[in-house]
Amino acid sequence: MTSLRKYLTLNSGKRIPTVGLGTYMMKNDVLREALDYALYIGYRHIDTALSYGNEVEIGDVVESRIKHGTVKRKDLFITTKIPPVYLGYKDCLESAEKSLDNLKLNYVDMLLIHHPCGNPNRGDGNLKPLDKNGGRELASYDILRTWNAMEKLVGENRTVHIGLSNCQPTVINKIWKAAKIKPSNLQLECHAYLQQNELGKLCADKGIIMTSYGVLGAMARPDQSGNKPVLLDDPVIKEISSRMNRTPGEVLLNFVAQLNRGILPKSQTKVRLKQNIDVLGWSLSQEDVKLIKNLGRNVKYFDFPWAKNHPDYVPNEPF
Ligand SMILES: NC(=O)c1ccc[n+]([C@@H]2O[C@H](COP(=O)([O-])OP(=O)(O)OC[C@H]3O[C@@H](n4cnc5c(N)ncnc54)[C@H](OP(=O)(O)O)[C@@H]3O)[C@@H](O)[C@H]2O)c1
Repeated sequence: MTSLRKYLTLNSGKRIPTVGLGTYMMKNDVLREALDYALYIGYRHIDTALSYGNEVEIGDVVESRIKHGTVKRKDLFITTKIPPVYLGYKDCLESAEKSLDNLKLNYVDMLLIHHPCGNPNRGDGNLKPLDKNGGRELASYDILRTWNAMEKLVGENRTVHIGLSNCQPTVINKIWKAAKIKPSNLQLECHAYLQQNELGKLCADKGIIMTSYGVLGAMARPDQSGNKPVLLDDPVIKEISSRMNRTPGEVLLNFVAQLNRGILPKSQTKVRLKQNIDVLGWSLSQEDVKLIKNLGRNVKYFDFPWAKNHPDYVPNEPF
């Protein structure tokens, strides 16, 4: 049985492990235990963000493993993100420094703009400021200035790579055209029901590696899915999984990985942590890939409803 690629090559020539540990909504001891076990069984890519509020725990575990000689810093790939309130030039620099401080690292491997639609920095540390009607308060930033700050952070060796998340083609092209250092990664929602073919082609043309979240159907956020179909319950996925003697989760992860896209499954369950990293050890048949490709139906679990009214949101473009 063919294995899938353990690493994808970025535009720097350096490699990013295909499977990363998603850490959103994991904190404290649950995160410490899950991450420590994940490193033990071979995870080397960790995905976090300033807004997840869990960089300190990640830093503790990484520091301890490096200190004990069971993991080398050079073998790790750590991604964090600049939140939408810190898209101003100076704020972006400070946000990165805050993340590095939390993580107890001299550099991260990937720094992403978490979302290009900004929110105002009220100076009180609130990462999700609300307007008087209780909706998310919006602010527009010059994204090219933000990108200049990201480039400065590369120049200062505070991050090896810079990239984007939740960006639409218009903003990707705008940054790409002006950038001295090109984005090397686009992190976005991607799964069997939302296969992101248009953005996939744009990224392939520009040598940008795509990294997918929501691959399992955003199970951790039922509030996001509303009455949307449950991806893990899809009859085609279930049929393939029982025939292959795999779980539906493994089938969904394998499908996205075989598209040469990164995957970021979050788990705090040992059995799943192991299954999710082992998903590269086998591959679906071309017939089954075809069956899953036919499931594409534009179901987006992470809608970012607040961003839909943002002046920098482009209607009718994918993200
Ligand atoms: N850039 C962005 O805006 C953005 C947005 C969302 C997410 N992300 C990143 O992507 C990561 C993944 O996020 P997600 O929301 O898409 O989570 P996910 O990985 O789709 O789902 C996590 C949920 O699925 C369960 N699970 C894990 N492995 C499974 C398996 N093999 N079979 C069945 N269920 C399984 C987990 O439960 P257990 O923990 O109990 O195993 C958890 O409830 C995040 O942690 C974050 O790092 C980035």
